[in-house]
Amino acid sequence: MNSLKLPQLQLSSSRTKWGLILLLIGVLAPTASSLYNVGVGIADTTGPVAEVVFMGYAQMGQKGSGVHLRTFARSFIIDDDVQRFVFVSVDSAMVGHGAKNAVIRNLEAIYGNLYREDNVMISATHTHSSPGGFMMDVLFDISTYGFIKESFTALVNGITKSIQRAHDSIVPGKIFITHGEVLEANINRSPFAYLNNPKEERDKYKYDVDKGLTQMQFIAATGEPLGVINWFAVHPTSMNNTNHLVSSDNVGYASVLFEKRMNKNALVGKGKFVAAFASTNLGDVSPNTRGPKCEFSGKACSDKYTCPGKKEMCFASGPGKDMFDSTKIIANKIFDEAWRLWIGDKTDQVQGPVRIVHRFVDMPKQSASFYNTTSRKIEKVHGCLPAMGYSFAAGTTDGPGSFAFEQGTTTSNPMWNLVRNFLAKPTDEDVRCHEPKPILLATGRMTLPYQWQPQIVSTQLVLIGNVVLAGVPGEFTTMSGRRLREMVKFTVNETDPSIKNVNVIVAGLCNTYSDYITTPEEYQIQRYEGASTIFGPHTLTIYLEQYRDLAKHAVLGKPVDAGPTPVDLSKNRLISLMPPVIYDAPKWGREFGECIQKAQLVARPGDVVDVKFISGHPRNNFMTGSSYLAVEKLEADETWTVVATDADWETKFIWERTSSLLGSSQVTVKWEVPETVVPGEYRIRHNGYYRYILGGVYPYEGVSNHFQVKPDVYY
Ligand SMILES: *[C@@H]1O[C@H](CO)[C@@H](O)[C@H](O)[C@H]1NC(C)=O
Ligand SMILES: *[C@@H]1O[C@H](CO)[C@@H](O)[C@H](O)[C@H]1NC(C)=O
Ligand SMILES: *[C@@H]1O[C@H](CO)[C@@H](O)[C@H](O)[C@H]1NC(C)=O
Repeated sequence: MNSLKLPQLQLSSSRTKWGLILLLIGVLAPTASSLYNVGVGIADTTGPVAEVVFMGYAQMGQKGSGVHLRTFARSFIIDDDVQRFVFVSVDSAMVGHGAKNAVIRNLEAIYGNLYREDNVMISATHTHSSPGGFMMDVLFDISTYGFIKESFTALVNGITKSIQRAHDSIVPGKIFITHGEVLEANINRSPFAYLNNPKEERDKYKYDVDKGLTQMQFIAATGEPLGVINWFAVHPTSMNNTNHLVSSDNVGYASVLFEKRMNKNALVGKGKFVAAFASTNLGDVSPNTRGPKCEFSGKACSDKYTCPGKKEMCFASGPGKDMFDSTKIIANKIFDEAWRLWIGDKTDQVQGPVRIVHRFVDMPKQSASFYNTTSRKIEKVHGCLPAMGYSFAAGTTDGPGSFAFEQGTTTSNPMWNLVRNFLAKPTDEDVRCHEPKPILLATGRMTLPYQWQPQIVSTQLVLIGNVVLAGVPGEFTTMSGRRLREMVKFTVNETDPSIKNVNVIVAGLCNTYSDYITTPEEYQIQRYEGASTIFGPHTLTIYLEQYRDLAKHAVLGKPVDAGPTPVDLSKNRLISLMPPVIYDAPKWGREFGECIQKAQLVARPGDVVDVKFISGHPRNNFMTGSSYLAVEKLEADETWTVVATDADWETKFIWERTSSLLGSSQVTVKWEVPETVVPGEYRIRHNGYYRYILGGVYPYEGVSNHFQVKPDVYY
C-alpha cells in the first residue's frame, strides 16, 4: 500500500475528499486479508471413567469412579488460502508426542498431508481429573500402573474427530481479538520463588500472577457466531486430589457455560458454537484463592509449606464451601468476563497472513546467552539432560505429597517396583548442570525399559495478522510467560515494525509435555516448579532464543529447519499393568438396569434426585458422544426429551463395585434440579454395557419411576 499513489482529485470539500480516499482504500485493499476460512468443531474425549488413576496429582489412590463433567476436544481452523492452522484445546492433563503423532496419522489417512505436525497445535487445558495412562514416557505412567491404551485411544480419537468436524464446518469468517481482566480467580502458589525475580522486573507488574483474559472470536462472514477461544492463566485444580469423578474442572465448566448460553437448546457437546478456555502460563498459578493452610489446625503453613503436626498436610483450597463449589465459582468468574468481552464491541479485527513455524528441539544439546543481572555478565549457558529435583516428590499446595516414593524402596505401586531397578545415578556433570537442584531422578540417564521423559520437544509459533500464538511444550510460570511474550513482541516489531499492536499469546502444554519452565531466578528457590524444570536452570533462557528465532522466521515468512525427530515410543512394548474388565454379573435375582433406588415422587429446584441401578462396568463402553445417563421430560405429545446428560453440571454418575468376586456393580445417578427447570413429569435413564463371562459385551438400559418436578415454593 505504501507505493500506491492516490489520483489527484479536484474536490470542493475536504469531507468528500476523505470519503473518496477511504472508498478507494477500501476498494484497493485486498479483501482476502480480512476474511479467513474458519471452522470449529467439538468432540468427546472421555475415556475409562472407572478404576483408572487420574492424571495430574500423581496420586495412585485417586482412581475414577464416575463422571461429573465429560471431557472434550475443541478445534479451530484458521486458513488464509495459503496456510492452514489448527488449534486444539483438549480437556486433558497434558498431551504427549505419542498422542499428537497418532492424531496426525489418523488425519493423514483421511486428508493426505493437509494436517501435519507443523500446522496442528494441540494444547491441553491441564485438568487434573481425567483418566491417565495416555502418556508413553515411563515417568508419566508410574502412578497409573503404566500405559492405558483405552485412555490413549479415547483422547486421540476425540481430538481427531474434533478436527474433522472443524474441517467440515469451514466457512469464510472474521476473527477478532480482545482483552479483559479477571480478579480474585487465581493466586501464585510459589510466591517465594516469584519474589526471587529481579525487583525492577517485578515492579513492572501489579500482580504476581497474570489477571488478563485474552479472547479470540470467530464470526462467519454471514454474521453467524462460530466460536471463541479464551486464555486465562489458572491451574484446573479446583477439584482436588480427593475427587474421583471425571471432570474438566474450572476451565472446562466455563466452556460448558459459554456453549450453553450460545447453543440455546442443544445438549452439552452437541451445539454448533464452540467455546474453549485454553491453558497459558499457568505454571505457578492456583485457583485455590483462600491460599495454603494446615489441614487440621487451619493455621498458616510455614515458609516452606509445612505444618507442625507430624501427619498434617499443607494445602490450598477455596474459594467455595467444597471443591465443587470452588470449581463453580472460578468457572463463573472466568465465564462472566469472557461473556462481557463477547457481547462487547468487536473493533479489533485480525487481518493479515497466517504464518506457521514448527521445530523440534533437542533441549540438552542447546546453548544460549544469559545476562545475569546480579553479576552483570553475559554467561554462556547450556541445557541439561532431564532430571527431577527432590521438591518434585513433595508435590504442591494444590496437591501435596503426590510422589512420595523414595529411591530404592519397595512401595505399594507395582509400576514403581518394576522400574526402580532402572534408576540411574546422576553423573557429576548432571549435578553441576542442574545446580542448585538436588537430583532425585536422573530421568535423562534412564533409558530402560524406554524413555522416562522427553529430550526432544516441539516448539511452534503461528502469526495470524498481528496475533502471535507461541505454543510451548510445558507449563511456563507467570514470569516465564511474561518474558516470552515480551521477547516475541520485541522480535516481531524489530523484524517488521509495520505490524502494529502485536498480541502475543502463550499457548500452554502444547504437543509435547516436558513439565515446568521457571525463570532461572525462580529455579534457584527449588520449589515444585523449579524441581520440575527438567532441562536445568536455563530451560527458559534456551526457549527465549528459540522462540525469538521462530518469531523472526514467521514474520519474514521463511521456513525453519524441522529439527530432529523425537523417538516414537509406540514402537516399544509399553508397560501396562492395568488389568482388563473380566466379567460383569448382577447380584443373584437382579438384572442389569434394574432400578434399585427409586426417585422421590416430587422434586423442586435445588433438590437432588438420587436413583440407583444395577450396572455393568463403565469401561465396557465409554459412551463416547453419548451418555451413561439421561434426565428425561415427558412432552405434551407423549414423547420424552432429554434435558440433561452426564456432561451436565447438575448431574453426577457414580459407579461402585459391590462384589469384585461376582463382578457385580451398581451406579448412582444424581440430578440437582436446576432453578431454570421446566415443571412437569420426569424420569431418569441409565445406559450401559456388561461383559458376559463367556465373552462379548452387551448393552442394557434401566429407567427409573416417573416423578413430578414442581416450581419452587416462594414465601
Ligand atoms: C478437597 O476438598 C474437600 C472438599 O470438597 C476437602 O474436604 C478436602 O480436605 C480437600 N482435600 C485436599 C487434599 O485438598
Ligand atoms: C518498535 O521498534 C521501533 C524501533 O524500530 C521503536 O521505536 C518502537 O518503540 C517499537 N515499538 C514497540 C511497540 O515496541
Ligand atoms: C548470577 O550470578 C550470581 C553471582 O555470580 C550467582 O550467584 C547467581 O546464581 C547467578 N544467577 C543465575 C540466575 O544464574
